[in-house]
Amino acid sequence: MNRTPAGSIRPSQIGETVTVSGWVQRRRDHGGIAFVDVRDASGIIQVVADPAAHDEVADLKMEYCISVTGVVRARPEGTQNPDLPTGEVEIGVEGLLVLSPADTLPFMIDDRVDIDERARLRHRYLDLRRPRMGANLRARSRATAAIRRTLDAQGFLEVETPTLINSTPEGARDMLVPSRLREGEFYALPQSPQLFKQLLMVAGVERYFQIARCYRDEDFRADRQLEFTQLDLEGSFWDRDDVLDAIESVLVAVARELRDIEIPRPFPRFTWQESMDRFGTDKPDLRFAAEIVDLSDIFATSRFGVFRDALAGGGTVRGIDVGPVEWSRARADALTERAKELGAMGLVWMVVEEDGTLRSPVAKFLDAAELRGMQDAFGARAGDVILIAADRWKLAVEVLGTLRNDLLRPAGHEELSFLWVIDFPLFEEEEDGSITFSHHPFTAPASLDEMRDNPNTAVSRAYDAVLNGVELGSGSVRIHDPDVQRQVFEILGIDAETAERRFGWFLEALRYGTPPHAGFAFGIDRLVMVLQGESSIREVIPFPKTQSGVDPMTGAPTWVDDAQLDELGITLTEAAVSRRDEGDELDQPTDG
Ligand code: AMO
Ligand code: AMP
Repeated sequence: MNRTPAGSIRPSQIGETVTVSGWVQRRRDHGGIAFVDVRDASGIIQVVADPAAHDEVADLKMEYCISVTGVVRARPEGTQNPDLPTGEVEIGVEGLLVLSPADTLPFMIDDRVDIDERARLRHRYLDLRRPRMGANLRARSRATAAIRRTLDAQGFLEVETPTLINSTPEGARDMLVPSRLREGEFYALPQSPQLFKQLLMVAGVERYFQIARCYRDEDFRADRQLEFTQLDLEGSFWDRDDVLDAIESVLVAVARELRDIEIPRPFPRFTWQESMDRFGTDKPDLRFAAEIVDLSDIFATSRFGVFRDALAGGGTVRGIDVGPVEWSRARADALTERAKELGAMGLVWMVVEEDGTLRSPVAKFLDAAELRGMQDAFGARAGDVILIAADRWKLAVEVLGTLRNDLLRPAGHEELSFLWVIDFPLFEEEEDGSITFSHHPFTAPASLDEMRDNPNTAVSRAYDAVLNGVELGSGSVRIHDPDVQRQVFEILGIDAETAERRFGWFLEALRYGTPPHAGFAFGIDRLVMVLQGESSIREVIPFPKTQSGVDPMTGAPTWVDDAQLDELGITLTEAAVSRRDEGDELDQPTDG
């Protein structure tokens, strides 16, 4: 079809005959003349028709797909629309063709209308017609193009790894796919390409990347989906800084592409310990300054039981000046409640008065030296609010870190703050006291001795990238020595026999001359979400699932025929069968 993009028409084309094809965004009738806004992927143009000459115009409804031929002309003085790139011109209709009529729409194709998300997902193809969603689709495509350009220029090889595999543990549940040919056996969908990319290093691919779909059966949040996309990357003969350098080059290129800004490099780096101490989180948001301060020395001999007891029990007293936030009794109570929900025993607050003294319900328990110590520690100004938590170190800093975010975090993503957190702990303690990996079990320890002697505090060679307080991605220097890999499995409670059964194929590969290697993966969904100023990754995924893992459009997941189950050797539980027979379709959940 010989068509001109609707959004491209400018006054320089006045007098030309053009054909535009697109959708009816809007029709207005004014004094016997019909004005129709025609929208295509490039934008909107106003076309003007005399209904007497073109009776099809009278039938046009919203979202009819039409083709219009006519002459470009200047809009009459006073009717220009400066908000529209095509606002100085219009098309005088000479021919109009309805390509496809449209039923009455379930919702308006309009960014300004607030539409229930379920309805949007039910008719996602209409939702994607909205300009904001179209812009998100294009941004995502430009992001992946920029990623490919950047890595291609650095000699990376793009390699596809399989998605029907043996389990790769990343800390989530596997999504399983039954095998028909080997009844009773299952493939796992990859939680990430982790082990395959390491095998590519064994295979002599020195620089690998992939835009990889990953699957994790985990509980949903705004920044999680069952399936999502990573930029996955790995390099041989690499150390940490080689990875950070390559990833920074990619992130800077994507920010330039989508935001037209130059992010300064290198990004700031914080050790995990420092990040926790200063911001109470391993994904600090540095768009605002407030930092946590250690007040333990000031209260070492306090009369105030709460502080004294915490310190005597091996804990700490930490505080943060959150600045001149609006303060009231109700707010104080709400924050104390929030702190308790987060596991704290309570929260002390202080407000700096005009004369510099501190107003607080506990001020009466504190002596002059303590109050002065506080003033010195914060250099606080009149009106500032100081929050204090006394507890075990991790709990105290995490509670203050969360309140810091709650109180100060800006709503959008106007400003961009990229940073690295390095030197993560190697292991984490589970609630039941057992030890688990903190990144994944293939991450190298910073020191073997430390790992053997003090696994609980051992540092790893893992690092995260953070953008505006969102964890963008993680990576590590890997273990390339099969003996070290075995030791790590052992500490994780995976005995030699289990390790051999689950990962024997991988451990064997490490024995054939494995180069030292390191890598990283970041969530493309999350990166595009932040750069597009969205607050959920669902806004930048073309066809996402709801928070309960359902696709309201296709109804997935769905029941399958008994014959199909038979072939796979699968028998449903009685509970599932009765739910099926009651017609309990999974596509009708209540979404949180
Ligand atoms: P990790 O498990 O930290 O590391 O994942 C890397 C990044 O992937 C994104 N991500 C998700 N995005 C959306 N929905 C999800 N459910 C989800 N889960 C993870 C996040 C996260 O930071 N193999 C290692 C990387 C490596 O060591 O090279 C890995 O997958 O942005
Ligand atoms: P209590 O002695 O428990 O009545 O607490 C006195 C004040 O200290 C209250 O405002 C509590 O919210 C606060 N508080 C109690 N425990 C802690 C704690 N661990 N850290 C900070 N504040 C606390």
